[in-house]
Amino acid sequence: MRVLKNLFEQNRKWAEKVKESDPDFFRKLSRQQNPEYLWIGCSDSRVPSNQIVGMLPGEIFVHRNIANLVVPSDLNCLSVIQYAVEVLKIKHIIVCGHYGCGGVKAAMEKDEHGLIDNWLHHIRDVYRAHNTEIDALENDSSKLDKMCELNVIEQVANVCNTTIVRNAWKSGQELSVHGWIYSIENGILQDLDVCVTGIDEIPGQK
Ligand code: CO
Repeated sequence: MRVLKNLFEQNRKWAEKVKESDPDFFRKLSRQQNPEYLWIGCSDSRVPSNQIVGMLPGEIFVHRNIANLVVPSDLNCLSVIQYAVEVLKIKHIIVCGHYGCGGVKAAMEKDEHGLIDNWLHHIRDVYRAHNTEIDALENDSSKLDKMCELNVIEQVANVCNTTIVRNAWKSGQELSVHGWIYSIENGILQDLDVCVTGIDEIPGQK
């Protein structure tokens, strides 16, 4: 109970399997990481970044939180973005949401959930900004789907508006910000077609 033996056993098996296909894998990786992608996704256990896009350790830098939010005052997320952009020089930031997100669902409910409501409050801001569009939808499940999509689009804008990303673009760094959504039901990713590659392309930018 205390040592979670099965996880250590699985770890040994996994490390062996990786070494079988590439004996040098861990030695090479221990020298440096050189990922091209930063993934900002939901903490949901059904949305594992690396597996979904078939990537090995070392290929994707990851930040996950409930409902894949990029809150301008969240030092954790901002530090990840800064390190990824300024030090790792990643080329793509992917904000990936998913349909049926429990965080988004909870934010749409009237009940109280305790401390987490302070975090979910940011999703209610997304609803407020788009309430006419959401309320016009027929049923709760299409409302939730739409909110999951709009939440991604909103977070893409938040990434683009960080000083880190804006400064990267100002200095001519090549960087794209993408908004994707994943379906837990069939394992398929969809591009929400909101790719931003420079300051001029930020939605609502004057
Ligand atoms: Co979620």
